[in-house]
Amino acid sequence: MQSFMDRAHRLANRAENKLTSMSEQISKAKVEADLVGYRRTVSKSGLYKYPGMTRKRIDEAVSTMESEGYQFNKIAAGKGERYAMTLENITAIYEHVEHPKYRDKRDSGFVIFVESLKGGVSKSVSTVTLAQAMRAHPDLLMHDLRILVVDLDPQASATMFLRHEHSIGQVDDTTAQAMLQQADKETLLKEFVFESSVPGVHVMPSSIDDRFLAASWNELCAEYLPEQNPNAVLKENVIDLLRDEFDFILVDTGPHLDAFLMNSLYAADLLLTPVPPAQVDFHSTLKYLSRLPGLYEELEESGLEVQTMAHLGYMAKIQKNKRDHAECHSLAKEVFGGDMLDMSLPRLDGFERVGESYDTVISADPLSYPGSETALKNAREAAEDFARCVFDRIEFIRTDNEQQ
Ligand SMILES: Nc1ncnc2c1ncn2[C@@H]1O[C@H](COP(=O)(O)OP(=O)(O)OP(=O)(O)O)[C@@H](O)[C@H]1O
Ligand SMILES: [Mg+2]
Repeated sequence: MQSFMDRAHRLANRAENKLTSMSEQISKAKVEADLVGYRRTVSKSGLYKYPGMTRKRIDEAVSTMESEGYQFNKIAAGKGERYAMTLENITAIYEHVEHPKYRDKRDSGFVIFVESLKGGVSKSVSTVTLAQAMRAHPDLLMHDLRILVVDLDPQASATMFLRHEHSIGQVDDTTAQAMLQQADKETLLKEFVFESSVPGVHVMPSSIDDRFLAASWNELCAEYLPEQNPNAVLKENVIDLLRDEFDFILVDTGPHLDAFLMNSLYAADLLLTPVPPAQVDFHSTLKYLSRLPGLYEELEESGLEVQTMAHLGYMAKIQKNKRDHAECHSLAKEVFGGDMLDMSLPRLDGFERVGESYDTVISADPLSYPGSETALKNAREAAEDFARCVFDRIEFIRTDNEQQ
């Protein structure tokens, strides 16, 4: 008779093969339909109303750049062609007109940790959506933001959304490995940082095997990093080395109280907690919030000085016209006070279904999105509004902090 272990191995093999074939199928379908990469474009006249732009500025910039050999993306229109400005084309125009970039104003990357010990509350979806929406938002393109998502959750959800090829099989180039290997900046950028489908948004992957590293983190640190505080490794070995390469670094962990969570808390400039609108989930979130000072005390007792500037809350997966959701929203406002964001991340089909093509609502193309174009558009607009709100609040916090 087949032993239970044999059957477990066969099940594991079938699961692994299925994952690989699903990922390959989606990649192949995107190549065949010519849907690889970020494909949203804007007409030339569409750029006239972008911040800091006028018709005259755009026309002059485009004609000078073309006379210097720059090639803008164009598509067939009638018998001729028309401009279809890509994200890179638009940031190149801003650069040409010498619009200051975000990095000219703020020279150090800002770390956002979307965190909660409550599972399934949209930490990963919020993280990847925020990363790509801040980069691609029409009002924020002038900043030419460089964004990195650091995946520290062995479930590798953020990696799946941003670079699904890296979320299955044997993956060695993970954040956790980078933390342990004490790689220099060049090695980190070359071997551990990968571009997502939206240009300018990168990911440091995670892998299921990282859970073993998390489980024996203190022993591993004692053996390989004896000089370092085990809770400071993410900050010291990864984030501090990449701070001048990225404007925003977003960290995603699983819902576990482990070394990865402690490292992320210590590295964070800003905590962002998704508050779920259902009563039971809301209770768990409150319990987590009530325990947070204890975690900070643990960090400080181990000799680390916490630098986090602010802790914001926002409603995630909230539905309009639901009374219990509205009630939780009011309660969350009482808990967070002025640190509750005005903007929520609503529960919308778009956020859920983009996962089917390993996309975010920003990177998804209406042609590969399995639902309706309107559903995708609604979710994309909600994501952009949310990203704008987070960006504006961070600007406020950073400016306020500098003035103190
Ligand atoms: N705004 C949203 N609207 C609809 N569905 C959403 C939304 N945000 C997340 N989801 C769905 O909810 C589920 C959980 O989301 P997600 O994986 O982001 O949560 P999480 O907090 O990261 O979970 P975990 O604790 O396991 O890491 C997923 O199926 C996701 O597609
Ligand atoms: Mg997650």
